[in-house]
Amino acid sequence: MHIDQLPSSKPRCWLVTGSAGFIGSHLIETLLRNGQSVVSLDNFSTGHQSNLDEVRRLVGEQAWARHRFIRGDIVNLEDCQRACEGVDIVLHEAALGSVPRSIENPLGTHAVNATGFLNMLVAARDAGVSRFVYAASSSTYGDHPGLPKVEDLIGKPLSPYAVTKYLNELYADVFSRVYGLQTIGLRYFNVFGTRQDPNGPYAAVIPNWAKAIRMNQPCMINGDGETTRDFCYVDNVVQANILAGTTSNPEAINQVYNVAYGEQTSLNTLHQLLTQEIMALDSSVASKSPIYRDFRKGDVRHSLADISKAKRLLGYRPQFSVRAGLNIAMKWYVKQDVDVAAVPAL
Ligand SMILES: NC(=O)c1ccc[n+]([C@@H]2O[C@H](COP(=O)([O-])OP(=O)(O)OC[C@H]3O[C@@H](n4cnc5c(N)ncnc54)[C@H](O)[C@@H]3O)[C@@H](O)[C@H]2O)c1
Repeated sequence: MHIDQLPSSKPRCWLVTGSAGFIGSHLIETLLRNGQSVVSLDNFSTGHQSNLDEVRRLVGEQAWARHRFIRGDIVNLEDCQRACEGVDIVLHEAALGSVPRSIENPLGTHAVNATGFLNMLVAARDAGVSRFVYAASSSTYGDHPGLPKVEDLIGKPLSPYAVTKYLNELYADVFSRVYGLQTIGLRYFNVFGTRQDPNGPYAAVIPNWAKAIRMNQPCMINGDGETTRDFCYVDNVVQANILAGTTSNPEAINQVYNVAYGEQTSLNTLHQLLTQEIMALDSSVASKSPIYRDFRKGDVRHSLADISKAKRLLGYRPQFSVRAGLNIAMKWYVKQDVDVAAVPAL
């Protein structure tokens, strides 16, 4: 992806935390492609070396040489301090995602998403970082019934994960006011794309269903399938991060923004779209009806973002519709399986 805001004549040093994960790996890919210098940090708790390997292959050795990886844990302040040395802009993605994971293990989620986040703020402040952009979440809207979601109207959090993501916003705001650290929070809405993990009990819906459809297994729908989400292709999220990291608009700083495509898709529609995309790519896949089960605790019923604030203050213009993003992502998922199948048995 070409990003106009990143002149390679004036490269800067970016720190991306969570770089072995889904979104973080896309951020380092774009930064390296655009001549930037990148430090990145991950502890591989939910991320994978294979994501870093894929970025390396895609950007080439010359660009990869501008990347320094630190294996470290944000729960450890010293790791955060080491990572922030000499950095201009932080894109903080490292966290434990998933609402159900946080309901099962609130302490684990709190340690990384709350304490780890505070460590990163302290380290960034002490290192004199010029801008701290962080992954916030649409879960902060909690039980507020309003649609579309506008940044100022939030309800009560519905899960420990949502509490930690709201806490991030409160801490970032205080660090801006008290210490003058420039912060920008990006409330992501259901991001999807290549390299999102399809495995494990906490996999997100799109990779999880892509895998099930490929294996000719039925998809599980929590509830009646009329639950809606504002699904956002990862390149739109990358664009928002670059804009947030580089904006010189003083009004845009120390704010939080919705980052989404701005369109509502029901789970039933998503299931149809995914099935169509995968069947077009793989003739061995047959259409299967989903299995409906109980609604899941902590899930909101409807989600749709108003993205006008990010458009107005950051110049955000999402380029990829849900359909366009699904088309790219499904090609990748289908190819992954083919690659795995191609590995000769020992
Ligand atoms: N994917 C979404 O739809 C979505 C929606 C809202 C918010 N977010 C937020 O975006 C960020 C990135 O999410 P993602 O979908 O790429 O998830 P991911 O799990 O793929 O990536 C997170 C990365 O952080 C790393 N990490 C976790 N704990 C760490 C620690 N203690 N120290 C260092 N690294 C650690 C993991 O190993 C992983 O590589 C997270 O903050 C998440 O809460 C994501």
